[in-house]
Amino acid sequence: MSADAGVNLELLLNLDDVEDAARTAMPRVVYNYVAGGAADEITVRWNRERFSDYRLRQRVLRDLSALDCSTTLLGRRMPLPLLLAPTAGHCFTHPRGELATAEAAGAMGVTFGLSSGTHTSIEDVMKVAKAPIWYQLYVVKDRGVTRDLVERVQAAGAEAICVTVDSPLDGARYRQQRLPMALPPGVTYPHLAGSREPSSIQTLDTVIPANLTWKDVEWLRSICRVPLLLKGVMSGEDAAQGIGSGADGIMVSNHGGRCLDTLPSTIEVLPEVVAAVAGKVPVIVDGGVRRGTDIVKALALGAAAVQIGRPYVYGLAIGGAAGVEHVIRILRKELLMAMCLLGCAKISDIDHRVLWDRKA
Ligand code: FNR
Ligand code: LAC
Repeated sequence: MSADAGVNLELLLNLDDVEDAARTAMPRVVYNYVAGGAADEITVRWNRERFSDYRLRQRVLRDLSALDCSTTLLGRRMPLPLLLAPTAGHCFTHPRGELATAEAAGAMGVTFGLSSGTHTSIEDVMKVAKAPIWYQLYVVKDRGVTRDLVERVQAAGAEAICVTVDSPLDGARYRQQRLPMALPPGVTYPHLAGSREPSSIQTLDTVIPANLTWKDVEWLRSICRVPLLLKGVMSGEDAAQGIGSGADGIMVSNHGGRCLDTLPSTIEVLPEVVAAVAGKVPVIVDGGVRRGTDIVKALALGAAAVQIGRPYVYGLAIGGAAGVEHVIRILRKELLMAMCLLGCAKISDIDHRVLWDRKA
């Protein structure tokens, strides 16, 4: 299979290979936007590194004849416990943008979280979508605009809404600020049109946060007909309060380390959130997931599913829909291999017993 950027996808065996190829193929300014994080990018690094703190505990000679990595999330059957996290601006990365991403997600049966910063309208995305589309909501100051947007995305067919709660402003994104990006000709943000004011303002002198509070979550719950998830929860207290405010799911996320640097990695925070949630709603985690064994570890610590952000954007950069599909296939294959080698035939076999406890 050869891809848009002249890259032979078959030679890219894992997600590091995909990122290396993308770094070469992408304009530097776009690569910087995707790869970058806040300040010293320490949290970006920790998200990845902390997965290696967990060791696996293998069981052998188990019956693997019914090997199956499918699972159920919010009542929907999924071929694997993986979603594409919302990432803004796919036309920076590929001319077909979110259409290519949605086609790949559809081909693999994977749910795609469409960002508020999408370059393609949800109506156009739905025309090509063959798997569930979730909508990621940034609440703008004018709550009437937000209400209209919620109505619009539900009417278009969004199966869930995840409201991002971790970024009243972007944070100190020096890499992005040094190399600002220009919109390609003809490209817009169709879902941000009409939001007269940006959700937050940052200049050297002024910091004005978007003012989103728990009351807004209750209000959103009252106007949403589909499940409402909170994206960007990094403490047990906020997870518990989120459920009290009506959230149907909690996403443990530090925005891929793009907002507040030196937040802990998400895999470290996951057990605290899982304990607070106590099985009432599903917990989804993102940040640094790059291997099938990372998915296993997140599930073993109580996540219902994981999301990836940067890896599929790199796939999009090198191969459009085929590149995104390739990234999902790699993770699926690595997940199935890890399950076999651990002695887990199905997703529900993955629990804390697959983690090696050095004290045991
Ligand atoms: C993001 N992320 C993000 N999150 C969100 O809620 N709304 C958004 O518009 C965006 N946009 C965005 C753009 C790009 C280029 C990246 C890389 C990320 C965060 C995203 O949903 C997710 O939390 C992280 O990407 C997960 O970390 P990894 O997989 O990139 O390590
Ligand atoms: C980002 C914003 C759009 O992370 O959420 O780039």
